[in-house]
Amino acid sequence: MSALSVENLTLSYGALCAIDSLSFEVADGERLVIFGPNGAGKTTLFNVITGLLAPSSGAVRLFGNDLAQLSTRKRVALGLGRTFQITTLFPRMTALESAMLAVQAGERWCFAMHRSIESFPKVRRRALELLDDWGIVGKADVQTQLLSYGEQRQLELVMALARGPRLLLLDEPAAGLSAAETATVESMIKRFSREITVLLIEHDVDMALRLADRVLVMQQGRLVVSGSPEEIRSDSRVAQIYFGEDLV
Ligand SMILES: Nc1ncnc2c1ncn2[C@@H]1O[C@H](COP(=O)(O)OP(=O)(O)OP(=O)(O)O)[C@@H](O)[C@H]1O
Ligand SMILES: [Mg+2]
Repeated sequence: MSALSVENLTLSYGALCAIDSLSFEVADGERLVIFGPNGAGKTTLFNVITGLLAPSSGAVRLFGNDLAQLSTRKRVALGLGRTFQITTLFPRMTALESAMLAVQAGERWCFAMHRSIESFPKVRRRALELLDDWGIVGKADVQTQLLSYGEQRQLELVMALARGPRLLLLDEPAAGLSAAETATVESMIKRFSREITVLLIEHDVDMALRLADRVLVMQQGRLVVSGSPEEIRSDSRVAQIYFGEDLV
């Protein structure tokens, strides 16, 4: 069974067709990178998968479940996780509090009214473990607004993992980062368990091609080409559309 199956998906904003008859599958455990110029429809695709936007037609299946009638919360319960193109942290919360919030969200009992106060140390311990595991425990007590931009993006990845996703959608996790910060984010994604399927939108070509098992290239809402990183590197259409000449 595929982790994700997108069938003949179309979404229009009025007269603009942002996603146009798009079909593809993502295998369980796969790292699939989506390339495409600005406005190609990449973020719109993520918004449809997560349920923020309803498609005009077509279907999306997550681990075999048709998502059409499911709220975003139900999709999350099926294992869908996401990070956004711009940071979405609460500025005055510390890194630890943010991680605790994500750990709680990943625990199925978190909404129970009777959740006992004893669970607090457990959540705190788990959040500290995660921060330690991903190299930012030194910033545990720092408000997120005082973290460097790279640390904020790292924390967002940790929070996405804390929620226990089976399919993780990452929208340009390295956008705006320095070379060193990009390398950190790349090494984090490389370390993700293969139990997590990853769909990654990324403009940093070198990083994306190192991480990808397979690449899809979109333009004007359509799938232009898909293939292995080697195939994408040497595809003249891709070079023309997107990468400039230095890639071929
Ligand atoms: N809320 C909206 N209303 C109308 N048009 C929109 C809306 N959101 C996006 N669009 C348009 O839909 C198209 C696809 O946008 P989208 O944000 O999905 O592109 P993208 O591939 O993520 O681009 P980028 O690389 O710049 O992030 C663009 O032409 C954009 O202007
Ligand atoms: Mg986008």
